[in-house]
Amino acid sequence: MLHYKKIAVVVGIFALTFVGMAATRPPEEGPKNLKVLPKDISHEELGKIMDSWKTALGVKCSFCHAPSADSSSHHLDFASDAKPEKNMARYMYKMTGKINKKFFKMNKDDNGKIASTITCVTCHRGNPHPDEVK
Ligand code: HEC
Ligand code: HEC
Repeated sequence: MLHYKKIAVVVGIFALTFVGMAATRPPEEGPKNLKVLPKDISHEELGKIMDSWKTALGVKCSFCHAPSADSSSHHLDFASDAKPEKNMARYMYKMTGKINKKFFKMNKDDNGKIASTITCVTCHRGNPHPDEVK
């Protein structure tokens, strides 16, 4: 009798361990909240675009990305849409695409990639507010 109880306890501990492991598995990799960029974009390509936006506007990532809700963490919550600047950037991205499509012929570069004539930096030139005269 006692023997079976022991086995039950051991099996129970194993089961709990596996449930625990599944629950603490890190969240899935990859972007979770893309609305304008391709959902299957590579990590590398997304990073390049983010760097180019940062440089074009002369800002830090935190200009568009809200801090993590967990205040003990110094990380940004990249998937969050809490900052209006992020949605403005989406709007600007769509606008830039429309300008290129409508007014400039989209040429393909040597790698067969579509090269945009107008990019964020065309207007922003390292300034988040190109409408304001410096
Ligand atoms: C000018 C605003 C802006 C700046 C600056 C910016 N981002 Fe973003 N970022 C966005 C927008 C907008 C999206 C969502 C794109 C979409 O909806 O397709 C995004 C999405 C992301 C995502 C994907 C999040 C998810 O899970 O959906 C990551 C990661 C990210 N940015 C990292 C960065 C990093 C790192 C930097 C700094 C090097 C940076 N961003 C700078 C606007 C910005
Ligand atoms: C045709 C010119 C033009 C292009 C191209 C352009 N922008 Fe803008 N952007 C502006 C102007 C002008 C403003 C100010 C608008 C306003 O305040 O109403 C602005 C404002 C913004 C803001 C808001 C800044 C704030 O403090 O609220 C963000 C974010 C932004 N742009 C991101 C981008 C990104 C990212 C790109 C490229 C994908 C881009 N813009 C391309 C002209 C442009």
